[in-house]
Amino acid sequence: MFSSRLPQQLAANAFSAAIADLRRRGVPLADLTVTNPTTVGLLYPRDLLRQLANPAGLTYEPTPFGRRAAREIIWRNPDQVVLTASTSEAYSLLFKLLCDPGDAVLTPEPSYPLCELLTRLDAVDATPYRLEHHGVWSIDRDSVRRACTVHTRALLVVSPNNPTGSMLRADDREWLVSFASEHQLALISDEVFVEYPIAPRPDASSLLGEERVLTFTLGGLSKSAGLPQVKLGWIVVSGPSDQVAAALQRLEVMCDMYLSVSTPVQVAGPALIEAGALIRAAIRARLMENYRALLAAAERHPAIRVPAPEGGWSAVLQVPATIGEDALVLQLLQDAHIIVHPGYFFDMSHGSHLIVSLLPDPRVFETSIARVMEVSA
Ligand SMILES: Cc1ncc(COP(=O)(O)O)c(C=O)c1O
Repeated sequence: MFSSRLPQQLAANAFSAAIADLRRRGVPLADLTVTNPTTVGLLYPRDLLRQLANPAGLTYEPTPFGRRAAREIIWRNPDQVVLTASTSEAYSLLFKLLCDPGDAVLTPEPSYPLCELLTRLDAVDATPYRLEHHGVWSIDRDSVRRACTVHTRALLVVSPNNPTGSMLRADDREWLVSFASEHQLALISDEVFVEYPIAPRPDASSLLGEERVLTFTLGGLSKSAGLPQVKLGWIVVSGPSDQVAAALQRLEVMCDMYLSVSTPVQVAGPALIEAGALIRAAIRARLMENYRALLAAAERHPAIRVPAPEGGWSAVLQVPATIGEDALVLQLLQDAHIIVHPGYFFDMSHGSHLIVSLLPDPRVFETSIARVMEVSA
């Protein structure tokens, strides 16, 4: 009766069932997977959202790409900016723009699982290509060549990547641009974490404004201002001018059908983007504080490696492969009441990994990460 675009297996897995059970029993859990910035004790100015009540929002003037004043703040050419309700919605618009059902998008691996779910909802195949780690993460170019077929329409980059924190290397960018133009692929660059450098390298690069190949760069308030509840994201479209014009014409048709960004959010957009600097600074300070605690804990446990995240909100722990990731995360949950993610949730390969968020309250983070290391070492 239902579409095969949705996951066939909807039951909770053992891990989420165990979390739900502990919560039902009132056991306090230290959640080192939290990625919701609004629930980790950061100070948001009480009046931050007052612009949402701006009377200008009382008039409905539907514009497919959103109000110009908001688009002007995002990129130097507002005609190349499309407002969306979220990055997830932006992905969906782009899959519809670029792909017919059965076409494919090349997606990085490891990365966060949402990409695969979103492509499936649009009847598009997510074909993985690998990121490889040799002291620094970079694109496994052979895996891109192998994954690309006549059905491939686009290649997706996530930079900084979730959860590896890796950023696009400048030489990978050059290679990708020539590969994409040779195979007539569009590039989609998810740069939602770009404002959160942790240990960036000098050759970190971005696809924002890339002009040699049709490129869509994604951002949003969800991460850049720690405001996921406001629902404002964007796409910056760049590339050869004829392709940009053709893409914008088609995006306009789709955006005109959904008109999904509310007028009060568009009116408040410029003020929220500006005020977001405060929250961004608070999030940055939080990430760095927890990262320092993570490094200090790792120093006491030489069996555990913590590759430096270049940016983003998460960190990877490479742990001894003694009992397996599943057993380890369950043990941490049942015995220590700490929630961490296993690496395989993100398609990490080569050994055992745990993934932790760097957003939690530092007091919770410091004691819990020390315990995680004791149990895992
Ligand atoms: C890399 C990345 N992109 C996009 C998103 C989704 O962002 P949004 O809230 O704008 O849909 C997430 C959410 O965690 C993410 O990790």
